[in-house]
Amino acid sequence: MQVLPDVVIELDDGSRLTAFTTLDAPAIAAAVDDSDIRRWLPLPRPYPVELAAEWSTGVSESVRASGAGLVRCIRVDGAMAGCIDVKRVDWRARTAEIGYWLSPDHRGRGHASRAVAALSSWLLVEQSFERIELRIATENRPSAAVAERAGFSFEGIARNAGFTDAGRVDLGIWSRITGEER
Ligand SMILES: CC(C)(COP(=O)(O)OP(=O)(O)OC[C@H]1O[C@@H](n2cnc3c(N)ncnc32)[C@H](O)[C@@H]1OP(=O)(O)O)[C@@H](O)C(=O)NCCC(=O)NCCS
Repeated sequence: MQVLPDVVIELDDGSRLTAFTTLDAPAIAAAVDDSDIRRWLPLPRPYPVELAAEWSTGVSESVRASGAGLVRCIRVDGAMAGCIDVKRVDWRARTAEIGYWLSPDHRGRGHASRAVAALSSWLLVEQSFERIELRIATENRPSAAVAERAGFSFEGIARNAGFTDAGRVDLGIWSRITGEER
């Protein structure tokens, strides 16, 4: 079975992509209680600290150990700034998808764009993936801007492909492929 390593990725600005620990649980539960995260990500409601603690260690490590993906904390000056994860890994095709969110107090400084650029480069260069995809609701402009800043190309719209708590959404499909690493 193939699995992604329990990697720590250091970013140019001093932030890091690391594993979560149970100490991050209160910050995760607080961050998820945000209207933008609630609008675009269909997370459990309510999202208590106990659920965040279980997800931050047990669930995210089982995702990695099963080969299904990798969950990383975006850590800025040691603080939990957000989450970025690799999912829909197809080891045979060597393709995967990345998802992400930032806590509201860490937005507007480029942390998500740098994290998406770094994690996708690591997958393409160090892990020999061929294609990394982002699937972004067409009305989620801040997330589309992240895709552009991280060097992804817009390919088109998958109609009615996603869902939020408010209903079905069309998803913009964005990709970076091998040869486009930086
Ligand atoms: C999507 C989301 C992560 C984007 O957050 P963000 O802070 O806008 O994105 P970044 O961290 O890349 O920061 C970009 C902003 O920082 C600014 N910035 C400042 N310094 C920067 C730098 N060195 N590099 C890049 N951008 C920088 C950019 O100009 C931009 O600001 P603007 O939106 O006013 O133009 C955030 O809105 C979120 O968590 N949303 C809810 C969950 C969600 O939608 N997830 C994605 C589902 S597909």
